Amino acid sequence: MDKFLIKGPSILKGKVSIAGSKNSSLPILAATLLFDKPVIIQNLPRVKDIDTMLNLLKSLGSKIQYFEDKKKVKISKINKPKHFASYSLLKTMRAGILVLGPLVSKHHKSITSFPGGCILNGNSGRPIDLHLNALQKLGMKYEIKKGYIFASSKGKLKGRDIKFPRISVGATQHLIMSSVLSNGKTILKNCAIEPEVKDLSNFLNNAGANIKWIGKRTCQIIGVNSLNEISYTVMGDRIETGTFCVAATLTKGNLKINGFDPKLIRSELNLLKKTGAKIKILKNEINIKGPKKIKNINNIKTKEYPLALATDLQAQFMVLLCKANGRSSITENIFKSRFVHAMELQRLGAKISIKNNKATIEGNTNFIGAEVMSSDLRASAALVLAAIAAKGESIVSRVYHIDRGYEKIEDKLRKIGAKIKRIK
Ligand code: EPZ
Repeated sequence: MDKFLIKGPSILKGKVSIAGSKNSSLPILAATLLFDKPVIIQNLPRVKDIDTMLNLLKSLGSKIQYFEDKKKVKISKINKPKHFASYSLLKTMRAGILVLGPLVSKHHKSITSFPGGCILNGNSGRPIDLHLNALQKLGMKYEIKKGYIFASSKGKLKGRDIKFPRISVGATQHLIMSSVLSNGKTILKNCAIEPEVKDLSNFLNNAGANIKWIGKRTCQIIGVNSLNEISYTVMGDRIETGTFCVAATLTKGNLKINGFDPKLIRSELNLLKKTGAKIKILKNEINIKGPKKIKNINNIKTKEYPLALATDLQAQFMVLLCKANGRSSITENIFKSRFVHAMELQRLGAKISIKNNKATIEGNTNFIGAEVMSSDLRASAALVLAAIAAKGESIVSRVYHIDRGYEKIEDKLRKIGAKIKRIK
């Protein structure tokens, strides 16, 4: 298992280009199962989860051709479609569940393993009840046997009015893609409106789907018979962007970050301004300078987009607040136990206490290098940031987590001044 050897502290300066969004690419790739005609997807990030999703599509009968260092793929159907999504491909990646709906919608049949992915909710795991209940309303029948969901429908899925009992990014994406080829009209209420959801609906609409956002969290989908050939460019990754913005602020550095839409991280940029960061926003670019003294912030909350801090940036903000000039707090409202990184940050000298879903972070931490272990994707990014800010040598193990979602992270960090080396 690879590890990172990091020597700090470093001040990060220079230019960073942001990759395509992982969390946009994954549902868009799953939705290609709905097409008969070829689809070209561009700006895919070169990360492990994308390889896993492409392997899953291959196992389901898609032909994949790679271009531009695998950032562009052409997906076509030449093989007989299959409907078995295996445990070996879904166990590491939760987004794998998104093939279930498209398979049932297109072929009326699917055997899909329960998915794996980051463990973010402690003992409650990461349920898929919202996905299954809503798909059932469209006419899908299923039973669960030996870790697999055996699902089918009698012909086409049927449009319905569905109100999600709680907001879920994955369930919203899953239902949008599953309704595109259904009979009649589907209205989805209480939808997630994360930019990655909107990127999926743009992709499908560009291919001839009939999806309209008719209220803030209400989406109307009128079924069409088929989707057209299309070439689509995935949006830039707002979480990678946010991670580098935190890196600049934390290390009192100066970064020019490009390749994404700054409007999509407005809440996070406002928080960074409160800590004292100086931010200039240009088109598809941000210039961010860290302050001399990082100010503390109380009562930060994670919430669904666009209401507050994204849960996928909570761990990185926690590292920043360790260096602030006073006490801060973060309440995690999306995944109630997404705090494993707090324990590991303590090995580097952080003083953080957790009560229920609230973390209190004492400021003025002088991080000192240590051995730490990644527990999930964003936690591993947080540990890497803390190690860059720490005095001395740190080893971050289990970096396969970070490889799932950050493209060439050590190359990008090295180019802007971090002393980071991958060791086998
Ligand atoms: C997506 O996960 C992202 N993953 C996550 O990013 C992100 O943290 C999350 O949305 C929230 O923004 C991808 O896009 C691939 P949810 P998803 O369904 O769709 C509960 C990363 O680091 N819930 O919006 O799985 C759930 O337990 C990853 O890149 C149910 O109860 O998240 C959670 O508490 C990690 N039943 C809440 O809803 C369900 O059926 C929101 O989860 C589904 C979800």
